[in-house]
Amino acid sequence: MQEIIKAIEESARRIKYLIETGDTGKSQSENSTGDTQLKLDIQSDEIIEEIFLKIPSIKAIVSEEQDSIKNINSDGEFLIAYDPLDGSSLVDVNLSVGSIFGIYKNEFNAQNIIASVYVVFGPRVEMVVTTDDVKMYRLLNNEFKFIQNIKLNEKGKLNAPGSTQNCWAPFHKQLIDDIFNDGYRLRYSGGMVPDLHQILLKGGGLFSYPGTSDKPKGKLRQLFEVFPFALAFEKAGGGAIDGFKRVLEVETSHIHDTTPCFFGSNNEIKRVLEVYSKNV
Ligand code: AHG
Ligand code: MN
Ligand code: MN
Ligand code: MN
Repeated sequence: MQEIIKAIEESARRIKYLIETGDTGKSQSENSTGDTQLKLDIQSDEIIEEIFLKIPSIKAIVSEEQDSIKNINSDGEFLIAYDPLDGSSLVDVNLSVGSIFGIYKNEFNAQNIIASVYVVFGPRVEMVVTTDDVKMYRLLNNEFKFIQNIKLNEKGKLNAPGSTQNCWAPFHKQLIDDIFNDGYRLRYSGGMVPDLHQILLKGGGLFSYPGTSDKPKGKLRQLFEVFPFALAFEKAGGGAIDGFKRVLEVETSHIHDTTPCFFGSNNEIKRVLEVYSKNV
């Protein structure tokens, strides 16, 4: 596992440079979920793949930007699913972005995720590694230094409501309104990495990306985005649900499957469950 963390650190140093100097324009192609790929999406995907290809313990990889699983070492132990550049459309306006990695064993599904890592590229570069606990590191003089463990409070103050609002179910709108009416503050940049990092570091709150009339299964992808953060939120003492159950109990039938998702501290997650259970 340590060699995988080192490989991710290496990718972060190179992607930091790519973000700072690269072309933010579009490519000619779309990925499997229908996003027009930016050149930065493709280049960061290539950087990570090139680094992972050298790691003997990696059995297979799959990425948001690739159609299928790539087998690397038949006797490798780990399977890695990654989002090479989350929030890539925010680079041209100089907002924070990230990379997300889910580390799995045996099969790519929620039951088999054993660790996750995300990297935030903001004013600073930080990396959060979740195994049994959640540890944050910061890039200082080109090396990642341990900074702190991350733990959520039982109840937070931030509300990050995602997706297209005019496609929300009325009960979902009511839930979000009620949370604001209780004094929560809006924090939503459109990059799930910095948005969730903020909730994790500022004690808690709620991030939601529900199923909507235009996208009943939400937008965020299970293997590359939702499961890695679900592990982080659970190990930090909070929760991650699809409205009805833990997202780490959601079934995956295809590598690019999406799921509605809610991440937060326990109080807010309980609140979502109560509302959703009455509105099936
Ligand atoms: P990506 O850039 O990897 O395709 O993912 C973008 C995601 C995620 O970072 C963010 O939370 C979400 O898209 C924002 O979507 P909306 O603009 O629909 O809220
Ligand atoms: Mn994308
Ligand atoms: Mn993403
Ligand atoms: Mn992406």
